[in-house]
Amino acid sequence: MTTDATLAAAIETRRTFAIISHPDAGKTTLTEKLLLYGGAIHLAGTVKARRQQRHATSDWMQMEQERGISVTSSVMQFAYEGYQVNLLDTPGHEDFSEDTYRVLIAADSAVMLLDNRKGVEERTRQLFAVCKRRRMPIFTVVNKCDRVGEDPLKLVSDVEADLGLDCHPVTWPIHSDGAFIGVYDRRRRLIYRFERGEDHGASRAEVSVASLDDPSIGSMLGAEAHERLVHDIALLDEAGHPFSHEAVLAGALSPVFFASALTNFGVEPFLREFVELAPPPTARESSMGLVDPADPGFSGFVFKIQANMDPKHRDRVAFVRVCSGRFQPGLQVTHMRTGKPMKLSSAQQFLARERSAIDEAWPGDVIGVMDRGTLRIGDTLAEQPGLEYSGIPRFAPEHFARIVAADPLKRKQLDAGLRQLTEEGAAQVFYTSGTDTLSPTPIVGAVGQLQFDVMLHRLEHEYGAPCRLERITARYPRWVVGPMDEIERIARDRGRMLLFDAKGHPLLLFEDAWGLRWVLERESSVTFHEVAP
Ligand code: G4P
Repeated sequence: MTTDATLAAAIETRRTFAIISHPDAGKTTLTEKLLLYGGAIHLAGTVKARRQQRHATSDWMQMEQERGISVTSSVMQFAYEGYQVNLLDTPGHEDFSEDTYRVLIAADSAVMLLDNRKGVEERTRQLFAVCKRRRMPIFTVVNKCDRVGEDPLKLVSDVEADLGLDCHPVTWPIHSDGAFIGVYDRRRRLIYRFERGEDHGASRAEVSVASLDDPSIGSMLGAEAHERLVHDIALLDEAGHPFSHEAVLAGALSPVFFASALTNFGVEPFLREFVELAPPPTARESSMGLVDPADPGFSGFVFKIQANMDPKHRDRVAFVRVCSGRFQPGLQVTHMRTGKPMKLSSAQQFLARERSAIDEAWPGDVIGVMDRGTLRIGDTLAEQPGLEYSGIPRFAPEHFARIVAADPLKRKQLDAGLRQLTEEGAAQVFYTSGTDTLSPTPIVGAVGQLQFDVMLHRLEHEYGAPCRLERITARYPRWVVGPMDEIERIARDRGRMLLFDAKGHPLLLFEDAWGLRWVLERESSVTFHEVAP
């Protein structure tokens, strides 16, 4: 095969996605089961176990370990039926941070995982909003179907109403005597009847497959389940949104699947449809117009920086999403922000926490590049000079605090540390006056609580600036664009806090959602933005 044909084939078979969900919906369990069906692990339970017993790789990792959570979002690659699937892990729980949002910018589609008793929850809504802004294709998986949950029809219509997203159930759950026994795939017109194994879902579930027209289907499912299925399908065919692959790719229609990640029921029918329906890497916006992934020149952008993965070195790993061309070790690229040449001598791939050197990567893949402090979030690396990707938006923090140096003489170290953490994207720093970068107490913002702990830990141990935080109760920020005197008036009116980000853009901080809405409805002389302009 010529290089062009190899590149085209690599793109066509790549599927790069992330899972969005509220804590406890079953993301870890589903991730593990996808790895099981993708042959990347042989017995489920290993990822979780490794998470619990892994060795500390740095002080900071030790802190994570003590809390039993992971700050690192890793990339898992596996092959399935001729496809190369890249699952980008989105930090959840307390380690929810801006990284979670940024991972979505690096993904080509998202799987929205819901608990069948809870439907759409707060965190799902926040992450969905980011996907929607990017018109990203979204696949919905309703999990925990082995337990009694909401009626599937109601769940689907709740998702539609809550998120304003049309849905098309591709698989439909089959229950018999209250037990979840299988799913029906409407696109393939196939019934998957599962059997529960002895090992609590550690290995693949036994399955029998039959067509809906098969005369033995009544005895396979039981008369009542069969009748209900026929009834539900007729209803969906008649009243539901018709399937349209274009609408799925445009992010306007979400294919819905029913599954139980715990027992593995419905996981493979989902994966099989997902690899077919999810998009391969597509063209991305840049300073030079849309860049086609099949463009032979390598290009990519940094979406995450991980500090201190190795305690022996003070180096960092920049995670680069490949957007076009092919990566090979020794590749010469330009670091666009500085215009300097850079040799990508080695790059690494990550399966959970283990690293291995890679000898090639294609659009949709993620490579880890060792870095000594040059790279920042959003930076473009490309062979073609002048090509720059649009960057990664700064997402509004949800927690704010004044950061006070324990020793006032360590102020210089604090400023240096904050600058570095801001560049890495580990913190957002704000000041109370646009020009006053030396204001006595900078304000830091974080998307998740753990981000604060990591900040304090790193400021003390890496920059020698022990600090404490004074929490600010206001937690609803909006960047504001408009005449400065208007912005100041809105701030003054009700004593709202006016802040400036590291680039000098003003933002207003509101005490509560009600106060925010009040202003949004009344003030039209300025515009309000959830991400930095
Ligand atoms: P998360 O990463 O989204 O936070 O969720 P995680 O996979 O850790 O799952 C959260 C809980 O939900 C776990 O129970 C897990 O076993 C359970 N769970 C996940 N998928 C399913 C499913 O399909 N059906 C049912 N019934 N439960 C499911 P736990 O008791 O908190 O933890 P564990 O002791 O089982 O690990």
